[in-house]
Amino acid sequence: MQLFFHRLLVIPAALLLASCGGGQRKGVLSFPASAVGKEAEVLKIQVRRFEKENPGIMVDLRKTPDASDLRHQLYVQWLNARASEPDVLQLDVVWTAEFAAAGWIMPLDRFKPDVEDFFPGTIAANLWDKKLHALPWFVDVGMLYYRTDLVSPPKTFADLIKSAEEGTARSRLPYGFVWQGARYEGLVCVFLEHLGGFGGRILDEEGGVVVDSEEAVQALTFMRDCVAKARIVPEAALTWKEEETRFAFQNGETIFLRNWPYAYRSMSDDQHSKVGGKFAVTAMPVRSHLGGGPGDKGLSAGKHTATLGGSQLAINANTANPEAAYHLIEFLTRPEQMLERALMTGQYPPRRNVYDDPKLATGLAVPPKDARRIIESATPRPVTPVYAELSEILQIWLHRALTGQVDPRLALENAAGEIRRLLKKVGLD
Ligand code: GLC
Repeated sequence: MQLFFHRLLVIPAALLLASCGGGQRKGVLSFPASAVGKEAEVLKIQVRRFEKENPGIMVDLRKTPDASDLRHQLYVQWLNARASEPDVLQLDVVWTAEFAAAGWIMPLDRFKPDVEDFFPGTIAANLWDKKLHALPWFVDVGMLYYRTDLVSPPKTFADLIKSAEEGTARSRLPYGFVWQGARYEGLVCVFLEHLGGFGGRILDEEGGVVVDSEEAVQALTFMRDCVAKARIVPEAALTWKEEETRFAFQNGETIFLRNWPYAYRSMSDDQHSKVGGKFAVTAMPVRSHLGGGPGDKGLSAGKHTATLGGSQLAINANTANPEAAYHLIEFLTRPEQMLERALMTGQYPPRRNVYDDPKLATGLAVPPKDARRIIESATPRPVTPVYAELSEILQIWLHRALTGQVDPRLALENAAGEIRRLLKKVGLD
């Protein structure tokens, strides 16, 4: 928080510009942004370009913690205190409903953004009270990276275990599979992909809590067994977030990795990565027996599941400089900046037209038409203003089950009970 108030040099500059009568688009914008993989590199280039095109506006880029939850905590502190900074906010897709309902971010309708070109799902995720509160910046979808020199892509969870076991035995790599197992938002994303693969969900169509279904118990049991029985996932992964898992893969220590698109460019960079040219991506697997098998009776078939994530850009409702803030957002979400970001980082553009540009193919881990299909069928997390609380309950119980403190069934029953009480308390049941 303090960071934003130690601005002895910057604030006078802002006041000066404002008092020069330079119009509404002048001033200093503070903008804290994430910096995993090659994100910081591309953002710096684009922000400097923006400043060149807009001589009256300076952008004060701030680094934020990599973990989405820590960023969330910081933002809540700032916004709850009605601070006027940061001016521009990078929101995780699961925060928009909460921040909009709290009145912390301003509706963008007054700026008349052109949203036609965006994937409808990415726009829907940013509507609150029928008003658009943030513009999608990049889309994240969870995917399975695998070593093409060691295994073929698995279709089922059973295939994945078999390939991981055989692959590690042959190659002597220390790990078979790594994912984000620390107690934070990333764990919920990984769980959602196993859950969908086993045919389960967190909430049903009517918003009822079904995260304690038989499918869910099997999904969590599978995850725990990968650590404790098959030992293909190292125990250390129960403290890992995105970057630790990326390092394990790019250092050539694991056969499989679950991560977001951003990991692709860094892992292809021969200067830093040992696996450039030796990996590809595929969808997360599904259960091995699609219903019908003994013991599986009545269970729904799993579906290859990619969690829908990604970042949006929004404006602090208390900013002193809404016009300039929107101007920066409009600039960063233009097709040409999205294309450049995709080519430099591997992140997926939320604008559909960018997928028609032949250059895009050189930047993504999968052909652009497949990326489009994956985005269109990706699975969102529950859209609710109490998502942060709901997720925290899940994080606690998932992590307890994975570390062997509680049986998966009991963990999910407890989580479901607490989530039902939470939704009841806020009148969302
Ligand atoms: C990525 C995703 C975000 C998700 C987070 C979890 O940043 O874009 O949606 O919540 O990872 O770690």
